[in-house]
Amino acid sequence: MAGVSYTDPVLEAAVASSLEQVEARLREAAETADPYVTEAAQHLLAAGGKRFRPMLVAVTSHFGDPNRRELIDAATVLELTHLATLYHDDVMDEASLRRGAVSANARWGNSLAILVGDYLFARAAEISAGLGTDAVRIQAQTFARLVQGQIAETVGPREADPVHHHLRVLADKTGSLIATCARFGAMFSGSPSSVVEAVTAYGETLGLAFQLSDDLLDISSDSTDSGKTPGTDLREGIATLPVLYALSSQDGDPAALRLRELLTSGPLIDDDLHAEALELLRDSSALKQARETVRGYAELARRQLQPLPDVAARRALESLCDVIADRTS
Ligand code: IPE
Ligand code: IPE
Ligand code: MG
Ligand code: MG
Repeated sequence: MAGVSYTDPVLEAAVASSLEQVEARLREAAETADPYVTEAAQHLLAAGGKRFRPMLVAVTSHFGDPNRRELIDAATVLELTHLATLYHDDVMDEASLRRGAVSANARWGNSLAILVGDYLFARAAEISAGLGTDAVRIQAQTFARLVQGQIAETVGPREADPVHHHLRVLADKTGSLIATCARFGAMFSGSPSSVVEAVTAYGETLGLAFQLSDDLLDISSDSTDSGKTPGTDLREGIATLPVLYALSSQDGDPAALRLRELLTSGPLIDDDLHAEALELLRDSSALKQARETVRGYAELARRQLQPLPDVAARRALESLCDVIADRTS
């Protein structure tokens, strides 16, 4: 992933080699008996993506024996799980652009996008069976948490503090899977349990920061950088952190007042009102405050690496904290 710093060229080459092997496994897993369905199942794989999750498995495997055979399958299972959730998420979010390509739902319709997502989940389950019951259990628990996060986001806050609800949603829908990536890398390389615990805690926090920064990019970037349509959350009425901060602010400045008026006026379906709200949000102090929150979590993730030995893999994980804190601005 762009920006990760590998201070050791041996580590960098090993991660690149792991990612190549995962890539071949992913393509194979997305094959089906029907060439038309295979095209749909391989569509988002071919479109791009950062492969952040397999990269994390590869890096964390360097606290143990990174050559263990199970590591490639473990990374494949987790990227397939992620990939399948993207097919489903774009249906739910009515997104038409993903990884710089037309989304599966926009191209083949919702039914096929849902079924292809299910197919990819099934393929992930099949591969995880070869990793043993612990892996199957952890993958299932992780996926259950991810889905509960998506459900809680859909249902909305039923507690007094919407920021607290929101952060829990993000930890569940994104932190859970990223934590398991770090955990599998350490676990399947035979790392000591202290390492497994430290990288799992780190992955959870990093995943939360990752999702928060992704939500800020939805506001601040254009589609050429993100490969997605900016302002999707706002249009879908999903209140991300800067929106929650803007809504709770007491700022009497005309721009802040107008932003609160727009955000409370119902779904921003009208193109002009949507563009106005996006523009106001881009210049708001709420966006700055949300950037600070991301930095706070990135720093926490860095501190969670302290129990680890001072090796190149740890420095690569530390650099990821900077990548995530910096990609929001
Ligand atoms: C997108 O994840 C969904 C989130 C959890 C934010 P990524 O940003 O890792 O997406 P790809 O895999 O690079 O497309
Ligand atoms: C992505 O969530 C899906 C999961 C984390 C399960 P979002 O809807 O927030 O992410 P993007 O912006 O579409 O990638
Ligand atoms: Mg989405
Ligand atoms: Mg979503």
